[in-house]
Amino acid sequence: MALIALHLFLGLIFQETQWGSKSGMAMAAYHSPCKLVHRAADCNWKQLSFIPVDLPAGTEELFLDSNTIQTLCNASLLQYRALQTLSLCENRLELIEPGTFLSSRELRILSLAGNSLFTNYSVTAAALQFLPALRQLDLSGNQLNEDMVATLIRNLSTLESLSVARNVIMRLDDSVFKSLTQLQELDLQSNYLYEIEAGTFEGLWRLQRLNLAYNHIPCIVEFDLTQLRVLNASNNFIEWFLAAENDAVFQLDTLDLSHNRLLFFPLLPRQSKLYSLLLMDNKISFYGNLSNNTSSLETTVLLFLMDGNVTNVTTLSLWEEVFLSNISSLSFLDISQNQLWYLPDGFLGRMPSLAHLKLDQNCLESLHVQESEPLGSLTSLDLSQNRLSDLQLHPGSGGILPNLIWFNLSANSLRGLPAKIFTHTKKITTVDLSYNQIDLCPQQANTDGAGYPVCIDFRNITSLQNLYLAGCDLKMVASHAFSGTSLTLLDLSNNQRALTRGLGPLQDIALTLQVLFLRNTSLSVAQIDLDFSDFRRLVKLDLSENSLAIFPKSLSGLALHTLDLRRNCLSTLPQDAVQKQLGKSLHVIYLSQNTYDCCKLEWWDILHGLGTVHIADRSQVTCNYSSSILNATRLSGSILHSCRWMTVDKALLYLLLALLPCLTLLVAFAVLFLTFKQQLLQMVKRRYRESGSY
Ligand SMILES: *[C@@H]1O[C@H](CO)[C@@H](O)[C@H](O)[C@H]1NC(C)=O
Ligand SMILES: *[C@@H]1O[C@H](CO)[C@@H](O)[C@H](O)[C@H]1NC(C)=O
Ligand SMILES: *[C@@H]1O[C@H](CO)[C@@H](O)[C@H](O)[C@H]1NC(C)=O
Ligand SMILES: *[C@@H]1O[C@H](CO)[C@@H](O)[C@H](O)[C@H]1NC(C)=O
Ligand SMILES: *[C@@H]1O[C@H](CO)[C@@H](O)[C@H](O)[C@H]1NC(C)=O
Ligand SMILES: *[C@@H]1O[C@H](CO)[C@@H](O)[C@H](O)[C@H]1NC(C)=O
Ligand SMILES: *[C@@H]1O[C@H](CO)[C@@H](O)[C@H](O)[C@H]1NC(C)=O
Ligand SMILES: *[C@@H]1O[C@H](CO)[C@@H](O)[C@H](O)[C@H]1NC(C)=O
Ligand SMILES: *[C@@H]1O[C@H](CO)[C@@H](O)[C@H](O)[C@H]1NC(C)=O
Ligand SMILES: *[C@@H]1O[C@H](CO)[C@@H](O)[C@H](O)[C@H]1NC(C)=O
Ligand SMILES: *[C@@H]1O[C@H](CO)[C@@H](O)[C@H](O)[C@H]1NC(C)=O
Ligand SMILES: *[C@@H]1O[C@H](CO)[C@@H](O)[C@H](O)[C@H]1NC(C)=O
Repeated sequence: MALIALHLFLGLIFQETQWGSKSGMAMAAYHSPCKLVHRAADCNWKQLSFIPVDLPAGTEELFLDSNTIQTLCNASLLQYRALQTLSLCENRLELIEPGTFLSSRELRILSLAGNSLFTNYSVTAAALQFLPALRQLDLSGNQLNEDMVATLIRNLSTLESLSVARNVIMRLDDSVFKSLTQLQELDLQSNYLYEIEAGTFEGLWRLQRLNLAYNHIPCIVEFDLTQLRVLNASNNFIEWFLAAENDAVFQLDTLDLSHNRLLFFPLLPRQSKLYSLLLMDNKISFYGNLSNNTSSLETTVLLFLMDGNVTNVTTLSLWEEVFLSNISSLSFLDISQNQLWYLPDGFLGRMPSLAHLKLDQNCLESLHVQESEPLGSLTSLDLSQNRLSDLQLHPGSGGILPNLIWFNLSANSLRGLPAKIFTHTKKITTVDLSYNQIDLCPQQANTDGAGYPVCIDFRNITSLQNLYLAGCDLKMVASHAFSGTSLTLLDLSNNQRALTRGLGPLQDIALTLQVLFLRNTSLSVAQIDLDFSDFRRLVKLDLSENSLAIFPKSLSGLALHTLDLRRNCLSTLPQDAVQKQLGKSLHVIYLSQNTYDCCKLEWWDILHGLGTVHIADRSQVTCNYSSSILNATRLSGSILHSCRWMTVDKALLYLLLALLPCLTLLVAFAVLFLTFKQQLLQMVKRRYRESGSY
């Protein structure tokens, strides 16, 4: 393969030079395989084993990723004195000779990711010493351990960004990064770090972004990097996060501790600018009822901090610690996939700026939001997949959740929602109540919910656009249940009784609906009138898992993009449906698990003929042929043949049936004739004779 490619490449050069000489140009013909744009040379993926020597001397950016270069020697870069960026990722680099960069005074960005620099790291380290302007260095994926890294980056005091991700670093101490006083960004992702000694990042006064994701760190205590803005410690084994207990103002705005083993809410810096706190997939819970004591806030924890042979014991009062930190700037909080079964009183009140709150996939049974916790800035709230049966929201000064746009309550145990919950949510567009046992208010219910305390009223919520009510065990939906809304998406799937009398309840939103999910809603054309002709904006329709034996005629006139007809009892699709508007607009259709007749698949051919429709489950579409089930895509010629014969046979049969009585009559006449032939003859003869005797 490589040989062939090389051969082709040589051939190409040969041809080019030939063309060059033919046209008589005595130019110092430029035959490098690299693409030149302004002062950049792109030589990626060119099977080069050396740095091209014939690039313009003024080249400032040189990209040589994915080649086979093994060594950079003293002369490699000699003529490229203006070089500012050099990228040699994914080569086979083992050695950079000490003199390589002697002429590269301008080099700022050096990417050496995905090589084998561990082989001769001490020689390479000497080479890196001659880069007075280096700002950005990528050494990721070079099988380097902590000593090699320390050697390679020694004295690179101009570095602003360093990546040593995907190496084999296990522990760090204060000697490693000591000289990198200008460093702003450090990436240590995907190593085997289990220990970071105190003081490791001391002196990195400008460090803003630290990525420790995908390591083996067991805890972070005495966190005191006040200058840091982003700390990513996701995907470790962290059980504790403890900021230093002082009143310094931390610059931290993003803290990612997701996918760890935290048991407690992290003990955050007291003063910070924290904007985004990510705690997804931990084991966090609050332990207010651990003791029976009325002052349950006094739950304390003893921490043993060991430093060599010195052990410090710290007593932490968990509650007070949480409440000591000022998290008023927090805007995004994700505690999904944890073990919360309640939120302490006043917890949410400490985050007046909170805009996005994710509490899904916990064990919350009740949630009471007090008046003192207005959540006035909240725009999205995800409480799905908990065990909520009790939701109480007390209106704050601006009303209940006045800025909420997106609200997910799916898969809980709710039987209703607080009355007037949507009175102040003037901006709400999306509500997901799927998989709760709820009911919609009947037509006669008043707006204040009096008389029908548990039903949910969506009428006149003018901003509402997307409503998910799948699997709610809804009773028959009342006629104007959605009046006054302009829903564009409605999911009523898995509600067997919701539409027992047809699509009437959806008439109010027929003109705005664009997406409608009616999977498994006991629809059958025979019993009810499935008239979709008013749903003129509909682009996506799911009718799967119903009992449709006939294709609803009104669909033919719609401009659907996606149609799902899986798991019904259709035996055929009308040809004109495919030929009319529907066929013109359709992009994707699902058709499998129906009972199509193999001998009536003209529509299938037309659908294919259109060329614009993607049959998403094409290989699973089957049809029935004399009590066997066949793959519609692979109907053999013989079956099509016998189908044709069956139709011809039928014609013959009718002919035969028609002919049979005639034949019988004919035969009867013949038999009669033959039996009575003698007598007749005699009769004739007799007459003749009689007449003859005259
Ligand atoms: C490369 O340059 C360095 C520094 O000038 C020198 O010490 C070394 O001997 C040179 N190597 C070779 C192979 O010329
Ligand atoms: C590079 O490393 C290899 C193997 O470790 C060694 O044999 C070789 O001498 C080294 N080259 C230089 C220039 O140090
Ligand atoms: C690093 O720099 C210091 C002072 O600038 C110098 O003394 C030391 O020799 C340098 N180390 C290396 C490995 O170049
Ligand atoms: C943290 O790092 C992981 C792994 O690279 C990444 O998926 C995640 O998005 C990062 N977190 C943040 C907040 O950037
Ligand atoms: C605390 O209360 C919750 C709910 O009332 C209960 O599930 C949990 O087991 C209790 N925990 C302890 C330690 O008592
Ligand atoms: C709490 O009180 C109950 C009985 O009221 C007792 O069985 C239980 O052991 C107590 N738990 C603790 C942690 O004191
Ligand atoms: C609650 O616990 C505190 C100490 O943790 C103790 O001083 C106090 O007497 C206890 N109160 C009761 C009612 O048990
Ligand atoms: C232990 O406490 C001493 C004195 O308060 C302090 O100087 C030292 O840094 C502490 N060590 C650890 C590991 O916290
Ligand atoms: C701690 O270890 C140091 C040496 O590692 C030793 O000098 C010191 O005496 C030890 N302290 C205690 C309290 O054991
Ligand atoms: C929290 O900090 C903000 C400024 O960042 C300040 O306005 C507010 O008063 C502080 N809250 C508390 C309880 O200290
Ligand atoms: C919805 O609004 C209309 C007009 O504003 C009003 O006539 C109707 O009574 C309202 N319906 C409900 C259920 O609030
Ligand atoms: C139809 O053919 C496809 C493709 O070979 C196969 O994956 C599928 O299982 C077949 N279906 C049936 C019902 O035989």
